[in-house]
Amino acid sequence: MEHGNLIVEQDGEIVVITFDRPDVLNALSDALVADLRAALAEVGADPAIRAVVLTGSGTRAFMSGADINELNTLTNAAAAEAKAAATQAMQREIQRLPKPVIAAVNGYALGAGCELAMACDIRIAADTAFFGLPEINLGLIPGGGGTQRLTRLVGAGLAAYYCLTGDRIDAVTAKNIGLVELVVPQPELMNAAKDLAHRLAGKAPLAVAAIKKSINDGAQVDIDRGLAIEAAQFGIACATEDRIEGTKAFLEKRAPQWKGW
Ligand code: COA
Repeated sequence: MEHGNLIVEQDGEIVVITFDRPDVLNALSDALVADLRAALAEVGADPAIRAVVLTGSGTRAFMSGADINELNTLTNAAAAEAKAAATQAMQREIQRLPKPVIAAVNGYALGAGCELAMACDIRIAADTAFFGLPEINLGLIPGGGGTQRLTRLVGAGLAAYYCLTGDRIDAVTAKNIGLVELVVPQPELMNAAKDLAHRLAGKAPLAVAAIKKSINDGAQVDIDRGLAIEAAQFGIACATEDRIEGTKAFLEKRAPQWKGW
């Protein structure tokens, strides 16, 4: 797959998408948003791809934030709102993709980079990584879901603290507050992320999609509606050939052979 600001590499059933704007530490431009949306659409349509890893080129940055050169040219509220909406739409496409998306955070994940990582299903960080929402220091606020997803991941108090101070969050602190799931030594990051992606690619794909949908849709609603979403997804998973194979294989004491339907 060819996308200008991305390197897209398939490795069996997984794909690694690398943000590739090293001169600006992989800052998120409008073009990169468009490229990523196009790449995600291709990944979504390809049944051979079962999991995705997102990362940044080099070792310094996952993504340094929105491209400040572009922010500097924004002259009115309507244009800025449209820009935020496009970024948010791209993030929702990550969440709606029926395949797991892992952020392999190799360095700075600031502003839009932190927001993009938070839209992924699972975050693995190098021990050298830093997170943060420093928009306040530009006289701005996070516009790519930062105030919403940080609050959902770590709670309103810590979200207020980090959005209002703009302080950076080191990898270990990020793990301690629930912003990342795993911290590994920098040289091991990509292997750890790919190993996890391959493991998830080996699970029953419709059950994977049902879990992802249940978590993402359920996170936005009250507990009764969330439980109804889960029950509906349980029903869908139960009606698959893979469920029949999974339970049969267990009783026959053998490994299941997933078909994907
Ligand atoms: N948008 C555009 N360019 C950016 C950028 C961004 N978000 N972040 C970094 N760059 C550019 C720098 O201007 C610099 O360009 P130059 O080489 O032409 O001078 C280059 O990337 C390297 O950045 P530099 O600041 O020299 O690296 P550093 O290691 O000293 O610091 C950061 C790295 C990420 C801490 C620092 O660049 C930074 O604070 N970036 C902005 C973070 C931010 O506010 N993000 C939210 C935006 S809403």
